[in-house]
Amino acid sequence: MSYKDALSDLERGGERSLTQQLVDGIATAIESGELEPDEKLPPTRELAELAGVNHLTAVRAYRRLRELGLVSAHVGRGTFVRGAGRQPETGRVSDSIAWQRYALPEYEPGYGDRVLADMHRQATARDLLPLSVGYPSARIFPVEAIEEAFEATLRERAGEALQYSEVQGLAELAEQIAALSAARDAPEDPADILITNGASQGLTLACRAILRPGDVVACEDPTFPSVIRAVQETGARIVGVPVDEHGLDTDALAALLAREEIKALAIQSRLHNPTGRDLVPARREALLALARRHGFFILEDGVYAELRFDGEHVRSLRAQAPAHVVYVDSLSKTVSAGLRIGWVAASGPVLDRIIAAKRADDIHSPTVIQLAVAGFLASGAYPAQAERARSHYRRGYDALREAIDEHLAPIASFVPPLGGGHVWVTLDPALDERELVEEAVRHGVSYAPGGAMRVERRPELSLRLSFGYLEPDALVEGVRRLAAAAAELRRRPPRRQAMPL
Ligand SMILES: Cc1ncc(COP(=O)(O)O)c(C=O)c1O
Repeated sequence: MSYKDALSDLERGGERSLTQQLVDGIATAIESGELEPDEKLPPTRELAELAGVNHLTAVRAYRRLRELGLVSAHVGRGTFVRGAGRQPETGRVSDSIAWQRYALPEYEPGYGDRVLADMHRQATARDLLPLSVGYPSARIFPVEAIEEAFEATLRERAGEALQYSEVQGLAELAEQIAALSAARDAPEDPADILITNGASQGLTLACRAILRPGDVVACEDPTFPSVIRAVQETGARIVGVPVDEHGLDTDALAALLAREEIKALAIQSRLHNPTGRDLVPARREALLALARRHGFFILEDGVYAELRFDGEHVRSLRAQAPAHVVYVDSLSKTVSAGLRIGWVAASGPVLDRIIAAKRADDIHSPTVIQLAVAGFLASGAYPAQAERARSHYRRGYDALREAIDEHLAPIASFVPPLGGGHVWVTLDPALDERELVEEAVRHGVSYAPGGAMRVERRPELSLRLSFGYLEPDALVEGVRRLAAAAAELRRRPPRRQAMPL
């Protein structure tokens, strides 16, 4: 069987992703000599057609083959098997890097990892409306205020700004974060704050500090996929606890605790990603009582908590139980994601462990950015900035909701979010999740497939649609394309069974 025959018969819904199967098929043909040095590979569109995959998958496969050193791309000419004696264009003396495939530990990115990688690529893809992307819109960035803050920092404190600084972060930034927390009814001692590179680093450091291989961690199901990855990286096992419109199901958590000892529970108690819902007061009390009785950490993520559409701000769990809650947050959704300013608030020995993990990871967050952001916050610009962000997200949600009502209503349902950046939509009747993802991209729209946010496999088909990044017109057009993709799929007989996670 030729390699082309093998590529036209990929296994759908199996263990290996379609991209991986393309990579393996072509790599095997190169290694066996079926594809010879300098031989031209089919163009990506032809490969996509041959294999019955979308164009992005073919592009991704060629990129991976380039990374593996097996092929090279020449603009305007195409992709070629690397010549046996070919010197790299840089003129550097180099031998093949193919051996690295065997030396590196096994790594098969999970579904959530692949979806996050797609999301970052789709943010800037042409001809695609990325409803998958949870970025803030550039429209909300306080460009002038940030410019002034950086200018002042470099003008007045360059020596300090460009130097190493404290692992825990600059005291003046910690004081500003503490003031911001106090305004959110969650007073903090600045000494309990560690500055991180985004909430993401807060999550990974906290997991590394608290967990060891074999530990069990519970989390909301669905949740933000990076939490799942942060837990799994430590060798701990993650167990999903269902959520509904009232937040985490604390009865299900209690049932889990009767069977298993857990080390931590990861939760977004307010404006949860992806549902946009809160943990209701009775369940907050139940959760804190369980944490105290069973002695586990609550890893609380508050990145969306400022983006409430209406009504009063809701306090963090940390404000109620600082001894149990390790809190992570950032300015990514309200000020700027690219600044990568986040923080951890924790009390007791766990904070020392997290600081030690930060030291080992990257010594400290960039001094110049910390100084500039401390200046920005000290200028008093934050409350108006948060309001600007809130109204932007609210406008996006209104546009998305109307578009869903108009184009998707007969097959879509969702519980309205109270804020945040996403709508968690369930489609009925269920379509095949991966087929819909591919069909949507063919129609020029992407969304985050629900399976990537799930810990436990579930029969229903859910989609996360994000409304923070695109303008209202683009959101409406994106939903229209998604509805067209779903309609197209419903006309076709299913290609395969429900996908594995
Ligand atoms: C729930 C949640 N937590 C954490 C993050 C990470 O944010 P950052 O690292 O930019 O602060 C995100 C980003 O989308 C998120 O949705």
